[in-house]
Amino acid sequence: MEERKIETNYKVFGYDELAAEDRELVDAAKAMTRTSHAPYSKFHVGAAIRMANGGIVRGSNQENAAFSSGTCAERTACFQASALYPGMPMRKIAIAAWTRLHHPEDAPEELCFQNKPISPCGSCRQALLEYEAAYGPIEVLLYGRDGVAVLPSVASLLPLCFTTF
Ligand code: THU
Repeated sequence: MEERKIETNYKVFGYDELAAEDRELVDAAKAMTRTSHAPYSKFHVGAAIRMANGGIVRGSNQENAAFSSGTCAERTACFQASALYPGMPMRKIAIAAWTRLHHPEDAPEELCFQNKPISPCGSCRQALLEYEAAYGPIEVLLYGRDGVAVLPSVASLLPLCFTTF
């Protein structure tokens, strides 16, 4: 028997420490929480992808009464990006979450962004990985009011991932 270990290194930046173009990407993800359709969870997620041509493709979570038909912000964004620009590398994705759950009704909008970043669900990791495996690393920026976690790739969020068959 051989024991192996998996470690993930990532960085946490203050929002103001980010490069201007990364702040722009995070701001786009935050803004996209406003377009979320989340009448069931009331948890609004936004995602913004920096494409290789410098443009930004956006997405938000879209829920549905048939719960399994809904989709997360990250998949909305990466499917949209691939549909609009097939084959174009996705360089970075920023993700932000906003909810009034656990806040008073009159809490300022900005305070309703999560303090701690949320991280993509397993299905979104797998979906993003497909584009990363094909077109190169996608840096992941997870926005929280307490700091922005930056991971170098989707694979770093999905060790022992499935890519080929
Ligand atoms: N959600 C996302 O859009 N992205 C994530 O990373 C986690 C969860 C959505 C799915 C559902 O609409 C709501 O948040 C609550 O789980």
